Amino acid sequence: MLVPIQFQVNGQSYGESVWPGTSLLSLLRRLGWVGVHRACESGDCGACTVLLDGDPIHSCLYPAVRLQGQAITTIEGLAKEGEWDPMQARFLQGQGFQCGFCTPGMILSARKLCEEGIPSEAELRERLRGNLCRCTGYQAILESIQGIPAEIPEWVLEDEPGSGQGPQSVGRNLPKQDGPEIVSGQAAYTGDFTPPGLLHLRLLRSPHAHARIQAIHTAAAAALPGVVAIFTHQEVPRRIYSTAGHSEPVPDPLDRFVLDEKVRFVGDGVAAVVAESVAIAEQACQLIQVEYEILPHVLDPLEAMKTGSPTIHDEPEARQIYNASRNLAGYVCLQTGDPEQGFAEADLILENTYHLPAVQHAHLEPHVSTSWLEEDGSLVVRSSTQVPFHCQRVLSEIFGIPRDRIRVIKGKIGGGFGNKQEILTEPLCALATLKTGRPVQWELTRQEEFTATNSRHAMQIRVKTGVKADGTLTAQEITAYGNAGAYGNHSQTVVFLAGYVPLGLYRCPHKRFEGFAVYTNSMPGGAFRGYGATQGTFAMESQMDEIAHKLGLDPIQLRLKNVIQPGDPLSLGYREQPDADLKDSHFNLIGSYGLKDCFEKIQTAFATPLPAPEGSRRFGRGIAISMQGSGLSKIHIAGMKLSLQPTGRILMRSGAVDVGTGSDTTLRQIAAQVLGIPLDQIDLIAADTGQTPFDAGSYASATLFISGQASRRAAQALRDKLIHAAAQRLQTDPSEVAFTWGRFSAPQGSLSLQELAQATAEPIEVELHHAADESSLTFAVAGVEVAVDLETGQIELLKSVQAIDLGRAINPRICHGQVTGGTAMGIGYALSEALIRDEQGQILNPGFRYYRIPTAKDVPPMEVHLIQQADPYGPFGAKGVGEITTNCTAPAIANAVFQATGLRFRQLPLTPERVWQGIQSSASHSA
Ligand code: FES
Repeated sequence: MLVPIQFQVNGQSYGESVWPGTSLLSLLRRLGWVGVHRACESGDCGACTVLLDGDPIHSCLYPAVRLQGQAITTIEGLAKEGEWDPMQARFLQGQGFQCGFCTPGMILSARKLCEEGIPSEAELRERLRGNLCRCTGYQAILESIQGIPAEIPEWVLEDEPGSGQGPQSVGRNLPKQDGPEIVSGQAAYTGDFTPPGLLHLRLLRSPHAHARIQAIHTAAAAALPGVVAIFTHQEVPRRIYSTAGHSEPVPDPLDRFVLDEKVRFVGDGVAAVVAESVAIAEQACQLIQVEYEILPHVLDPLEAMKTGSPTIHDEPEARQIYNASRNLAGYVCLQTGDPEQGFAEADLILENTYHLPAVQHAHLEPHVSTSWLEEDGSLVVRSSTQVPFHCQRVLSEIFGIPRDRIRVIKGKIGGGFGNKQEILTEPLCALATLKTGRPVQWELTRQEEFTATNSRHAMQIRVKTGVKADGTLTAQEITAYGNAGAYGNHSQTVVFLAGYVPLGLYRCPHKRFEGFAVYTNSMPGGAFRGYGATQGTFAMESQMDEIAHKLGLDPIQLRLKNVIQPGDPLSLGYREQPDADLKDSHFNLIGSYGLKDCFEKIQTAFATPLPAPEGSRRFGRGIAISMQGSGLSKIHIAGMKLSLQPTGRILMRSGAVDVGTGSDTTLRQIAAQVLGIPLDQIDLIAADTGQTPFDAGSYASATLFISGQASRRAAQALRDKLIHAAAQRLQTDPSEVAFTWGRFSAPQGSLSLQELAQATAEPIEVELHHAADESSLTFAVAGVEVAVDLETGQIELLKSVQAIDLGRAINPRICHGQVTGGTAMGIGYALSEALIRDEQGQILNPGFRYYRIPTAKDVPPMEVHLIQQADPYGPFGAKGVGEITTNCTAPAIANAVFQATGLRFRQLPLTPERVWQGIQSSASHSA
């Protein structure tokens, strides 16, 4: 029964009637206060924090019926009369955000914490544990709250070709342009956009790991008032595709239907309900009866490859599967030299197997899409996607609609980390709109994020190394088994990088890699920051540390002795099948090289003696190195269009996707630098297939390196055009025209950009596409100090230092944030994160309460060194920085734990239980 309530929100009075089960979060969002963010609905993340009579509460847990007579303040109510609240001002000043999805809750919680003065950093970390952030690593948040933003050095651009005369934009900590909308709660994320007549979609998912659907009974669900449509596999086009959005032609297996008559993991889609409300759609899902023929399932990749295991993909339409009968989605084999000869030359051979878990991206904003039809019948999908153009392509292929009749708009994104490089919610949303003619929105729940999207691939990696007594490597061999899960999206390419990157990191004449991407009946693996290099780097860097220990060598010296140098050949021979001809794979090269400087920073940071044991606490330090390409050479394409507007301002149209990292700002910094105008003279339309040129999307550390180069080239071409046009107006030769600070000067006179725009009949604009011939390698070194409690197995991270060889930082503060965020993600990978599954394939920890991403208390203060040596291939010398720090953090921690305990852990995460058991079993062996 509806309950009438009277209450206030941000000083406005409301009288509403609500159902008893309605949460305050849902009510506030329905009333338009969408600065209150829906992320977990279990009170675990703090994104929905509001103030109730001045005290912070989780609005997702608070029943709306209890609001009677109460006053609520949301983020939108903080600023008064155009003045920022002091905490909003601090977040703006310290740029304590990236995607901003956590920011309203953070600001409201922090404001209360600081009511009686700013607590110590330790206290702040403790008391902010109820507010999760997946992007920043908390460093910039804590600095913002304390009002002491880090002083991050800027750099001065020397005169160089292509840098316009005017204000320096690159190399400066210019603020992200979306800061004011983030701290005010005005940022419009995809789910905040609700067109009139909106329907909602919910998906009935499989409770079985492997089953064939015999029948689906939908009559009872269809009869529920408010249900508009139900779709099963019989109502969807039977067109096979891959959810992976990364290149065309598609390198992945084509093994997925929008809905299929077979389900392949617990959580696979069965039937979609479209209804007038989310609640009705959920209720209808429960009324659908499904008859299944249960099939044998397999969860372990090594089992799945064996003869006699259930075949997961037996559909005749599937294509590009390496070997469906062996459940091999993909297979990679690479070799250089003769590993057997290399092992024969070694003084020491070490062979170990490492076990890496499936972990989840845990971006705070769930996947969400909204679709509708324009008056001309064309389809529009507004989506929280990293790959709008690939999404357009996939929808076109599924529904047989020309691409130019489909428009995909990237809304503001609350984080992605690779999981939104998959086309997941868009196809069913589009189908529902095409069938009903009405706008449809589908937002995943947190449980769906954890059980039915993608994970980092779980991997078992065997590493075998041959080495001389002086530390010279003679042979390296990696065999990786990646758990692709039920579908092969990204699996072969992820497994490829698990070998290619760590083997490429070291000089060694004899190398071999064999990688298997294996189907199992579990949630698919997919793209995730680091993309296979994360798993492979853990295995390699753990073993390099072990070799140093066994040979009595310094771990840094061992690496310096063997690590690749400029001029070294990088590629392994590449063959897809063992009996195929070898061919080179020139993916990457070394442009700039600051790795030695990185080592020096780490050595300096840890120059003091290691603390002596304290009671049951033992201390240890560890290092690890990693490398990552900057985008994909010759594959990743970025378009850029720059136009002079009648106002004299420049309009940038870029297909690149800012996932919260700040690329909308850095791309404009590059163009502003070339044009010699202030950054705020450039407007931006981004990531909209209807308005911007093609861009492959945001992934593979490509945006700055490739879209940034597109920005630089387009700005240079526009600058030339502008000067020619100005020369015509000034009746002089272009060589006589100087263009600085947006003004053209020649001996004959001068004119402004606006005067030029208004005097020119034809638009002055440039559009181009850029693909890099080379992908420069970024390097990083991580050093950590830990304390391990031998009585509890608890690991405390005391210090984290990262040194990144990133070429040039276009915006050092933004790069800093990428490093701290990536490091925190690596800390979670090392210490706490793992998806736990039962024997039936069900994930047992699908929420933030039991799947623990790092809180502010779990990450130490981070020391970040941006090593700046201009790269010859990147725009203004920049290289990619988005992924690399995730890769070296976990092995550095494991290596530090070894120094503290003498125990080598080869399985992540290093939970207190696992460490304690290791300590116990070591004690019983030595007793
Ligand atoms: Fe905190 Fe993205 S900025 S979740």
